[in-house]
Amino acid sequence: MAGFVRQQTVLTCDGVSLEAIARAAGTPVYVYSAGAIAERFAELDRALGSWPHRIHYAIKANATLAVVRLLRRLGASADVNSGGEIDVARRAGFDPAEMVFTGVGKTAAELERAVELGIGAVNAESSGEIGRIDAIARARGRVVRVALRVNPDVDAETHPGIATGLHAAKFGVTPDVARAMARDIASRPALRLVGLHVHIGSQIRSPAPLAGAAAVVCDLARELAAAGLPLEHVDLGGGLGIPVATDPPPMSVETYASTLLAAVRPTGLRLLVEPGRWLVGPAGVLVTAVVDVKPRPGGGWFVIVDAGMTDFLRPALYGAWHAIEAVAPRPGPALEADVVGPVCETTDIFGADRTLPPTEAGDLLVIRDAGAYGAVMASNYNRRPSAAEVIVEDGRWTLARRRQTIDDLLQWDV
Ligand code: LLP
Repeated sequence: MAGFVRQQTVLTCDGVSLEAIARAAGTPVYVYSAGAIAERFAELDRALGSWPHRIHYAIKANATLAVVRLLRRLGASADVNSGGEIDVARRAGFDPAEMVFTGVGKTAAELERAVELGIGAVNAESSGEIGRIDAIARARGRVVRVALRVNPDVDAETHPGIATGLHAAKFGVTPDVARAMARDIASRPALRLVGLHVHIGSQIRSPAPLAGAAAVVCDLARELAAAGLPLEHVDLGGGLGIPVATDPPPMSVETYASTLLAAVRPTGLRLLVEPGRWLVGPAGVLVTAVVDVKPRPGGGWFVIVDAGMTDFLRPALYGAWHAIEAVAPRPGPALEADVVGPVCETTDIFGADRTLPPTEAGDLLVIRDAGAYGAVMASNYNRRPSAAEVIVEDGRWTLARRRQTIDDLLQWDV
């Protein structure tokens, strides 16, 4: 299996020492395993079996070109969420027809672009948006392929900050509204309704919420077909969770796939999925160097590292738990520590009360499962340039994105 394993105690990525990468590329540095991404893609594709399906990689999870290009080479299609992600997908070589475009607030410029390019499906989130797409399509003499994002009012049983499937959330329209909108779309010659879309949240662990959401969408698809409005696909979004040590383990990819397929089969339609985290999360780590170790009043230690919430926001934003390990653990008694960043915020903490081997300034730590929603959520707060990113492929590492410099940041100040 590709990924991050220890060789003589030192953590490696597909045979390459993370110490060697950190020495050459500096820290903090994201390291991605191309092999792990490839294995995960193949596993999901296999789980979906022979039923007609397409895996639209959710570019928001990791938009670094080397990663997006890799997923395209592996056979993925793309899920884009903004004009910027459309550009990333195009530069990575995706045909616009291979893209689905979702987003609760697509601007006029983004919709113009989507229509102009002929995006595979624009996932519309309101009747107002349908009106805007129709106007652009008519003005340009185009027929636009649209799908409707349905909000099924299903609780994804995940962190409330990443749950999108309840009616209280801003996403999509109710099934009743979708039903009426489908008829409206059918009356507009410049639009073609090709699918229904649903995405109820991220880091979902159990099949029940996914089954509930899929049932709402698939029942509606069958109802529309019976009413003379046949579709081409159902898009059941992303959301498959990855293991987190503090939580019950998530469903297997096989359970995930069989849950979705059970709902889709009676429709006879092609299945689209939009996985992000599951494909790339475990395939990446953030390597960071210890800057200082100081006693914590009341016992234990603060281990202060050179990465901060500006590099990896998930712990600060969601209280997310990520494993933290030494790259080359020193022998000796373990210590208890809060692993914290240098940013002037008390929430700039990667892990509280963690057990680490003896740790000194200069040592390297990794934060695990940082391949998804890591680098993409970086900021320049405290005027911190963003981290370098490295991809390891076939036993060799290459720089995927160079570290920002202060000059990079200041060039935008006019
Ligand atoms: N499709 C749509 C329409 C989405 O909004 C998302 C994620 C996905 C697919 C991919 O979901 P995934 O398979 O990765 O769960 N920043 C948060 C996650 C936000 C997810 C947003 N939407 C985090 O770090 O947990």
